[in-house]
Amino acid sequence: MSFAATGQGPHCLLLLVMTQKPVPAARLLMCPPDYFGIEYEINPWMDVRHQPDHELAAQQWQGLYRALTEKMGALVELLQPMPGLPDLVFTANAGWAQGDLFIAANFRYSVRARETPHFVAWFRERGCRIVELGRTEFFEGEGDILPCGDELFAGYRFRSDIRSHLRVGEILGRRVLSLELMDARFYHLDTCFLPLGQSKGDARAAYFPGAFDEYGRKVLREYTSELIEVSEKEAERFACNAVVVGRQIVMNTGCPTLRHALEERGYTVHETPLDQFLKSGGSAKCLVLFLRP
Ligand code: ARG
Repeated sequence: MSFAATGQGPHCLLLLVMTQKPVPAARLLMCPPDYFGIEYEINPWMDVRHQPDHELAAQQWQGLYRALTEKMGALVELLQPMPGLPDLVFTANAGWAQGDLFIAANFRYSVRARETPHFVAWFRERGCRIVELGRTEFFEGEGDILPCGDELFAGYRFRSDIRSHLRVGEILGRRVLSLELMDARFYHLDTCFLPLGQSKGDARAAYFPGAFDEYGRKVLREYTSELIEVSEKEAERFACNAVVVGRQIVMNTGCPTLRHALEERGYTVHETPLDQFLKSGGSAKCLVLFLRP
């Protein structure tokens, strides 16, 4: 429709431009760590005898929140924390959120399956179309499925089941490249694979080779434009579990080699201590779910 047809003229457009908020670099979902703790053991990092320091965990979560919102230009939406759900902070596992579609996680362990109604309610209240997977199609959301360049990479074995990759690929109308995870310490794909480029033609990534088998490493080499190797020492500091927003990255402290490699390639790296969350087998990326446009 032309302006002449609306009879309103270009002034409206000007007003619209002036009143519009700047577009955030990314929209993310996080959940404050009010009830975070180690109440069960479902990965090799978790030990109920090694509880996080509650105060420190709260400070570290705030540090990540501030880096994302103040330094990296992201808009962070919040989910209300719930007593009895100590892992609800790890919103990456909520599912896959894109536009008005939310594919809900189907957790392998019942202790985490109790989180799903909360995530679903949050998306339903915002008018999203909810898709739930079949009983055996275990799917732990963005923890196990990540876009890199034009492709979607997905991990399976410890948490997600390979059958969920087929379903998710069908729902999204996209090919999913399945990678078997070989090392229980790196039980979610986002603990050992860090996509850096998210646009056509930029399929750079970093990864910890020891978390994959020969076939997986071959797939990764073939479908990325550059693969930066992360050492075991830094992988254990959750170097791969970083959040990338454009050319800015936030990650746990103590990963100087990856940091240097990223800076050499023009990325700005923000380090923030997250060791209280490592006790649960998570770091920056696990604490964030992308609300994709
Ligand atoms: N304790 C949580 C679990 O074992 C940590 C989840 C980490 N999330 C992730 N996206 N890697 O499920």
